[in-house]
Amino acid sequence: MQRQNIDTLLPSLALPLIAAPMFLVSGVDLVAAACANGVIGSFPTVNCRTSDELENWLAEIAARNARAADAAGVASAPWCANLVVHRSNARLMQDLATLLRHKPEIVITSVGSPAPVLKPLQEAGARVFADVATVRHAERALEAGADGLVLLTAGAGGQTGWLNPLAFVRAVRAFFDGPVVLAGGISDGAALFAAQAMGCDLAYMGTKFIATSESMAKPAYRDMLVESGADDILLTRAFTGLETNMLRASIVAAGLDPSNLPAHGAIDIGKDISIEGRENRPARWKDIWSAGHSVSGVDTVKSVSDLVAQTRREYDAAREAFSVRISNTRRR
Ligand SMILES: Cc1cc2nc3c(=O)[nH]c(=O)nc-3n(C[C@H](O)[C@H](O)[C@H](O)COP(=O)(O)O)c2cc1C
Repeated sequence: MQRQNIDTLLPSLALPLIAAPMFLVSGVDLVAAACANGVIGSFPTVNCRTSDELENWLAEIAARNARAADAAGVASAPWCANLVVHRSNARLMQDLATLLRHKPEIVITSVGSPAPVLKPLQEAGARVFADVATVRHAERALEAGADGLVLLTAGAGGQTGWLNPLAFVRAVRAFFDGPVVLAGGISDGAALFAAQAMGCDLAYMGTKFIATSESMAKPAYRDMLVESGADDILLTRAFTGLETNMLRASIVAAGLDPSNLPAHGAIDIGKDISIEGRENRPARWKDIWSAGHSVSGVDTVKSVSDLVAQTRREYDAAREAFSVRISNTRRR
């Protein structure tokens, strides 16, 4: 994406924010509510059971965005699909074909190189942001032709990054001046403002949106987010084989000991672990839940509209506080 394109997109948003794509969490209600409230709403296409279902979701999101725009008199923020480009996604090419029919503005690729899907998406007018966790992968994604980058950093919900966000953003800004999105650790509007201050155009909020009434998360999952803080997040490879941030309490509730998990198990709890006394064994993602360090910012379960309004207030307050701090700094 050219700089000028992102610079024209940003003023049309209520906040420089993407409601992050989340497996089994982001559905039509969450995406449409985010867009209606001026935040880019995203979802992984694998949340749809089939490409036909994806077709229906995209039609429904477009219809709701059009209705919201009519009612508000301003365009909704764009929706954004996340394509998991890993070879394990057998439906990748089918989902790509479905997406192309709906003319996406932005597509985010994750878990692999964006190369296989770049050309058709860009020819259809989409801008492709590649989700990357290392400086090397950032360089490679840009060499392949990605328009923007999502920098996955330490403390993110789901399969996390490990680089410090300050260091990662500045390392990438040394060679790339296009669109950069920060993923991980955005717990409120002040953190969002900080992401911009260090050079990002946009940031993801994932965990905060799980705790909204429009997410597909189970009520017990949302409540656990309210009760948890950053210290209750466990970084482990036990469930997915990759470093993933999980809620300790959900591991305990599943009958497992968080301090005694296989170091690198790639265990699918549903298949590989038998838990005495339980007939229905818990499954990762469905019963053992993920969240990022930003869980410290979850105080209640609220509507997307209330979350965006609160984040806007926090963001504005951070801007004010920043300008005071800057002027004090100059005086010294
Ligand atoms: C439950 C859950 C599921 C996720 N699923 C995906 C996914 O399918 N695709 C993806 O690119 N990222 C996924 N992520 C990562 C988020 O898109 C995002 O990077 C992360 O939530 C940012 O950190 P935060 O939760 O602290 O805001 C997931 C995160 C969570 C918490």
